[in-house]
Amino acid sequence: MKHKERAFGGVNTKIVRPNAQNIGWACDILRSGGVVAMPTETVYGLAANAYDVQAIQRIFEAKGRPQDNPLIVHISETEALFELAEHTSELAVRLAQTYWPGPLTMILPKSSKVPDIVTAGLPTVAIRLPAHSAARKLISEAGFALAAPSANLSGKPSPTSAMHVLDDLHGRIPLILDGGDCQVGLESTVVKIDENRIRLLRPGAITVDMLQQVCSNVEVDRAVMHPLKEGQTVVSPGMKYKHYSPEAEVILVDGSSSRFCQYVSAHREEGTYVVAFESEKERVAGRVLTYSDRPQQQAKELFGVLRRLDEVGARKVYVHCPSQQGVGLAVYNRLLRAAAFRVISL
Ligand code: TXA
Ligand code: MG
Repeated sequence: MKHKERAFGGVNTKIVRPNAQNIGWACDILRSGGVVAMPTETVYGLAANAYDVQAIQRIFEAKGRPQDNPLIVHISETEALFELAEHTSELAVRLAQTYWPGPLTMILPKSSKVPDIVTAGLPTVAIRLPAHSAARKLISEAGFALAAPSANLSGKPSPTSAMHVLDDLHGRIPLILDGGDCQVGLESTVVKIDENRIRLLRPGAITVDMLQQVCSNVEVDRAVMHPLKEGQTVVSPGMKYKHYSPEAEVILVDGSSSRFCQYVSAHREEGTYVVAFESEKERVAGRVLTYSDRPQQQAKELFGVLRRLDEVGARKVYVHCPSQQGVGLAVYNRLLRAAAFRVISL
C-alpha cells in the first residue's frame, strides 16, 4: 500500500494538497516511522515523529545532513512546550505568548523525553509552533511533536515551494504536502533563552526590534554577522556549515544603486550574473536576475533566486547587498553565508 512505503530508497514521491484526506495519509506515514515534507510559513520542513529515533534517522539520511546538527521540534499548541523543555522561564512563556504561532524558534533545556538524536546530544532542544495551518493540522492529527529541518538537500538553499522540495528530495521521500509558496521565505528566528536575556542565533522574520519589545536584553550572536574563527565552538551547530549555497561563487556588493550598477556593468565575464534590486534592472548590462527592493519581499524571493542561479549555470554572481534593518538582517545573514562572507564595499 502506498502509505506503507519506506521513506528512503527510490520511492515515487507524490505531491498533494494538504486537504483532510491527504493529511490523514501523511499521518499514516508518520505513524509508521516515515518522513513527510510539510509547508510552513517560513520554509518547507522534512518532518518525522520527534520521539521515534529511527524516523529521525531517516530525516538525516534523506537530506544528507551531518549528525551533529540538531533539529527543530514543531508543536501545535503551546502546552507541548512544557513536555519538551525541562525548565521554561517566564521570558520563554512571554515570547511564546507574543510570537507563537509564528516564525520563532526557542532553544531551551531539554526534557529527558526528547531523544538525543534530535538534539545531536546537546542538553537543549529547539522548539517552534508554526503558523501555517497545514503544519499545525498535521502535528495535531499525528498526535506527537514533529522534528523537522528545512526540506532541502544539505547545503542547498531552503525550499520555499513544493517544487523546490521535489527538485532536492525526489525519490528520497514518499510525500510532499503542497501548501503553496512560503509566506516568509526564510527560516525562523532562532533564539536561546537565558534567565533574562535573549541571544539571537539566527535572524528571521521576528526581528531584533520585535524581540526587544518583550525583553530589552537582546544580544546578537557574533556568528550572525561574522565568519567563525578557526577552532571556535558555536552555540548553534548549524552556523558552522556552509549554507544556502549555489554552485556559483557569490560576491556581495555594498554601495548606492548608481555605484553598484556601474561596478557590475564594468565587471562582466563569461558566466557572470548579477542579482540587482528590481528598480535597477534597466541600468545593469549583461545577465541579470532581480529581487525586490523591499526587505520583506526580498526574504520571500531570495532562496528562489539562489536556486535559479544554479539552474542557469551561473559561475560568478554579484549580488546587491540588502539593507540590514528589520527582516533585512535575515536576508543579509543568508547572503553572507551564500557568499562565504565575501563583501565588496564600493
Ligand atoms: O523555519 C524554520 O526554522 C524551518 C522550518 C521547517 O520550521 N526549519 C529549519 O530547520 O530551518 P533547520 O534544521 O534547517 O535549522 C535549524 C537550526 C540549525 O542551525 C540548528 O543548528 C539550530 O537550528 N538548532 C537546532 N537545535 C538547536 C539547539 N539545541 N541548540 C542550538 N541550535 C540548535
Ligand atoms: Mg536548514
